Amino acid sequence: MKEVILQRFADIYGDAQGAQIYFAPGRVNLIGEHTDYNGGHVFPCALTIGTYGVARKRQDRKLRFYSMNFEKLGVLESSLDELSPDPRADWTNYPKGVIWAFGEKGMKVPTGMDILLNGNIPNGSGLSSSASVEVLTGFILRDLFGFEVTNQDLALIGQYSENRFNGVNCGIMDQFAIAMGREEHAIFLDTADLSYEYAPIRLKNAKIVIACSNKKRGLGDSKYNERRGECEAALAELQKECEIKSLGELTEEEFEKHKGSIESEVRRRRAKHAVYENRRTVLAVQALQDNDVAAFGQLMNASHVSLRDDYEVTGMELDTLVEEAWKVEGVIGSRMTGAGFGGCTVSIVKDEAIDDFIARVGDAYREKIGYNADFYVVEIGDGPRKL
Ligand code: GLA
Repeated sequence: MKEVILQRFADIYGDAQGAQIYFAPGRVNLIGEHTDYNGGHVFPCALTIGTYGVARKRQDRKLRFYSMNFEKLGVLESSLDELSPDPRADWTNYPKGVIWAFGEKGMKVPTGMDILLNGNIPNGSGLSSSASVEVLTGFILRDLFGFEVTNQDLALIGQYSENRFNGVNCGIMDQFAIAMGREEHAIFLDTADLSYEYAPIRLKNAKIVIACSNKKRGLGDSKYNERRGECEAALAELQKECEIKSLGELTEEEFEKHKGSIESEVRRRRAKHAVYENRRTVLAVQALQDNDVAAFGQLMNASHVSLRDDYEVTGMELDTLVEEAWKVEGVIGSRMTGAGFGGCTVSIVKDEAIDDFIARVGDAYREKIGYNADFYVVEIGDGPRKL
């Protein structure tokens, strides 16, 4: 990979002198969905697939970007003096957003750059290709210009840029999972105060399998911000009775006692998901610690049901993948992962059942939906690094 991208960089920008090579992973969330902007827990992990980048400083203020994933777009040019979101800038709004965000935090990027990216995360799949680009950009800026920021800062700056520059009100999960990733570990993160623990993922004779629905989803045009708004409105109603700062502070019992203060039935279901999903996440991590992978799988399944019925972010494609997965013997658990409305599912599948899983879920999906799903057996990898 290193030689290929360096060569491509030289083809595009004339030579590769002084260029450095970097990598940032994608992520998959095992459980704890739509809890991160509700002050709840999440349990994601970084993957060994992600975004490769080649970068070098320029003498002037020009920014030049090229992606091997969008070759037709060619080199997209911009400048440090033009850091505002622009639909014509396409995917470069992500790195530009991070450069802008560094400036907002008092770290003005002093010179332009030539950048080439090549990702092996399926785009728009819900494995956080955009957060991967954001964290990668932050990592590059730190390395090239010597800014003093921790990996956790890179996550927060990435989220800030996504919220303020790219207009998606996302939580901290994706950028945190990517910036803080650790091989063979998932991150048990409390989004209320960003305290976290690494939990080893020891799946005896089983693997994590991602099924990509190939239904494209851009967070910006999804109902993501709407769901967030519904939760905020439900919280405001609950706060009339309870002294809480977020839905994540409520136990299930407290929620049941006070849910009457939420006037709409829809908002009540949204809040119920946030509260119960948070609890499921805590229980799931406990189950893993007790080596009870079966219990972990049951909680994954329950998470999907709640996302389907109460939070309503699944849709026919994701439901088909998950419901077909549940029928296959050797599937320990299966659920949608990420924002939903398309994207991927995550399943824990026994080694001997993986081929059968891919064949049966793949066939049923094609028959019902009319096009193929893609399957990836993934591994948990480290956070961003220089290669
Ligand atoms: C997207 C967002 C995250 C999180 C998930 C849902 O991936 O970027 O912050 O809210 O959706 O759990």
